[in-house]
Amino acid sequence: GRNDEPPLASWECTYPLARSGYPYISAQCERLGTNLFRSRLMFKKTLFMRGEEAAELFYDDARFSRENAAPTRLKKTLFGEGGIQGLEGEAHHQRKALFLSLMSQSRIDELMQLVEQHWQLRLNYWEAQASITLLDELHHILCRAACAWCGIPLHNVDAPEMAEQLVLMIEGGAAIGPKHWASRRARRQTENALLDLIKQYRQGLHEVDPVLPFATFVDFRDAQGKPLPNRIVAVELLNIIRPIVAVARYMVFAVLAIHEHPDCYEKLKHQGSSHYRRHFIQEVRRYYPFFPFLAARVNADFTWQGYRFKRGRQAILDLYGTNHDAQRWEAPDQFYPERFEQEKVDVHRFAMIPQGGSDHATQHRCPGEWITLALIDLAIEKFIHQLRYDVPCQDLTVDLNVIPARPRSGFIISNIHSIN
Ligand code: HEM
Repeated sequence: GRNDEPPLASWECTYPLARSGYPYISAQCERLGTNLFRSRLMFKKTLFMRGEEAAELFYDDARFSRENAAPTRLKKTLFGEGGIQGLEGEAHHQRKALFLSLMSQSRIDELMQLVEQHWQLRLNYWEAQASITLLDELHHILCRAACAWCGIPLHNVDAPEMAEQLVLMIEGGAAIGPKHWASRRARRQTENALLDLIKQYRQGLHEVDPVLPFATFVDFRDAQGKPLPNRIVAVELLNIIRPIVAVARYMVFAVLAIHEHPDCYEKLKHQGSSHYRRHFIQEVRRYYPFFPFLAARVNADFTWQGYRFKRGRQAILDLYGTNHDAQRWEAPDQFYPERFEQEKVDVHRFAMIPQGGSDHATQHRCPGEWITLALIDLAIEKFIHQLRYDVPCQDLTVDLNVIPARPRSGFIISNIHSIN
């Protein structure tokens, strides 16, 4: 067969990619009639790929590595330095096992109870207001619940600041200019605050329940009996509380979908079976844009579908484009939960990959998927069965060139009453 370079989309694509956002990679694929093309990102030669087959290739760890793959600007904001995202092989498996040990059903139930509790506390305030912005409110509720769940003591006064800093990390990774620098500052400050707590705990100055993530990470010892450096513990704790707060976006998208699709509302309210609700939650994760793409590095020269992959080259897997790939999904840009009735469980390996693909234990796939599903489910329960509210006139546009996406207004609701 051939042994060609993949088709060239453009010499440099950083600017057009930032301008069009989530649909950019797919649009180039459509234009060139391919699922794989090359260009440069920040002047670095890069291969872009999308679709189920490309995802399967991307998760072949003989061929791709995550070591030194994330751009510095993301490590300084979203991910942190030395965290699990950049580990490979045995080091990754060990660290991943630690994360997965926190995801038992009983620990997830505990988190849901904490979210319920903090939501309930906040409800009086909601009922007393003319209106609230749901995205902001959920960020704060989830921040308090996540910190309690981790065993990170949050003084009441610090809680709003912590939530704001986590949101800056979530939103500042892809930003440029002042917002990006605010995001870096937020990470430094939050890591330093956690470092103080970790040192105090190591000195025996305060106690934390050993089942909580804080103690799990600080007390961890590797095969040689060595603990994780304090800085890494801080980074990994942020790798738990930051994405829990980020699930606020999916919760808002679920409420938005309920608002924009009255038929979905009726089915969620009246269908006895839990199938529809499960499919609705999956469709929220498939349809709405969130994590745009992943970066890796080619491990060794190889050829795939006649195209040459060169060792050391940067590779980008388009998550959004894979979830919206018209070769795989019928009417991908329609919100249609019933599509999952026809799907096999296998769809979640490489076709439906909003939180990464392949296996949780051996690959980088998100260990927070079960928490994410449970939190979206909780939002549906609240908004279908426990709250009455109005949705005043507002701009609910979800701009596809804003990463991470959100409805412009943040979703304002008014006249809020608890039903029970
Ligand atoms: C990894 C998305 C929620 C913790 C990832 C990855 C994606 C992702 C795309 C990368 C997968 C890869 O590199 O192959 C999301 C989205 C979420 C979410 C869209 C919803 C808001 C969570 C939650 C947690 C979490 C709730 C923790 C409680 C992590 C960690 C990793 C990760 C620790 C790194 C895993 C590794 O490198 O092995 N997530 N995630 N995420 N996620 Fe999530």
